[in-house]
Amino acid sequence: MMRTVTYIMAGAAAMLGAVAFAQPIDLPVGDVPVELSDAESEVVVNTCSACHSLDYITTQPRGKGAQFWRDSVNKMITVYSAPISPEDADAISAVLAKKFG
Ligand code: HEC
Repeated sequence: MMRTVTYIMAGAAAMLGAVAFAQPIDLPVGDVPVELSDAESEVVVNTCSACHSLDYITTQPRGKGAQFWRDSVNKMITVYSAPISPEDADAISAVLAKKFG
């Protein structure tokens, strides 16, 4: 019985290993995560993938609220000099708050 369990566990671990190897570890900039692949996210994809992967957005913790996303967008503009118009900043903040807020 224990032996069977051990074999099953080993098999599962081997399969997980295979899956891990099949997945790219670092998505290159330009790959669009599933959460940002719809039409309303286009402004995010176009604007926010210029300097870094969109994973920077999708890996943030959830539930931080709309102000967190507004602040994040503002930080990109003020600290990192991202060229983002006020209109796009509003649109992006709204989409991110809706999806990841
Ligand atoms: C002008 C370049 C640039 C653009 C455009 C840009 N970012 Fe960033 N972003 C950065 C840099 C630089 C960092 C910090 C990188 C690091 O720490 O490795 C960063 C980091 C982040 C982080 C991680 C948390 C943090 O505050 O460091 C988030 C979230 C983020 N960006 C969101 C966005 C969003 C949303 C957009 C689109 C509105 C965007 N970025 C566009 C340069 C940019």
